[in-house]
Amino acid sequence: MTNDIIALGAESEITRITIWGHTYVAKRRPRKPYLLSELDTYLRASRTARECKSLNIARSLGIPTPAVHSVDMQNYTLILDHIAGKQLKEAVGQVSPSLLRRLCNQFGSLIGKLHDGNLVHGDPTTSNVIIDKKSRLWMIDFGLSEFNADTEMKGVDLHLIRRAFETTHWTHQDEMLQSTIEGYTEVLGDFAEPNLSRMEEIRTRGRYH
Ligand SMILES: Nc1ncnc2c1ncn2[C@@H]1O[C@H](COP(=O)(O)OP(=O)(O)OP(=O)(O)O)[C@@H](O)[C@H]1O
Ligand SMILES: [Mg+2]
Repeated sequence: MTNDIIALGAESEITRITIWGHTYVAKRRPRKPYLLSELDTYLRASRTARECKSLNIARSLGIPTPAVHSVDMQNYTLILDHIAGKQLKEAVGQVSPSLLRRLCNQFGSLIGKLHDGNLVHGDPTTSNVIIDKKSRLWMIDFGLSEFNADTEMKGVDLHLIRRAFETTHWTHQDEMLQSTIEGYTEVLGDFAEPNLSRMEEIRTRGRYH
């Protein structure tokens, strides 16, 4: 068995574990010393449980997500399949314009499928999407997701996508947003419009309030 830390964020510690030729990921949410201990325990527990549930629901909605193999609520740790690939964030500057459009279209259609199931991702950035060697996208990091989402929550999810493109991929932001919205609308049809209008409204609110 081999173990190595592949990501160390403010929220979690991601370790790659290889056992008998199969590679898994352990996602552990460590304690945050600056939080009151009751709040810290509540957040670690709720985000771990939420992530496990949403990864499975998203999968049942047709969105590629890593399978969950185990949930350890004593240590706030999930064991997931390791998805071989790289973050969509890294790929953006490396692929051709036409592949970038196709990837964003695919991203938009995955978000459309999530929203069709009334699930919102909560942190839909390009670091939370993995692209595999067949240019297939996988969604991860569902700790901030929410169920029974309404138009406002879906509008916020779309707004966060736009913000992520603006801040991280500003040179490609227009074509990325356009292709994402196309993929989203292909999945949701007429149901896309209220969520897209809400996205616009949220942006205006942010600007003038
Ligand atoms: N199942 C996985 N397979 C491959 N790589 C993964 C997997 N899960 C996480 N990673 C890698 O680790 C990084 C961080 O993981 P993740 O986004 O789930 O945690 P985080 O950003 O700390 O989020 P959170 O807000 O839930 O604490 C990802 O961007 C990805 O590069
Ligand atoms: Mg993340």
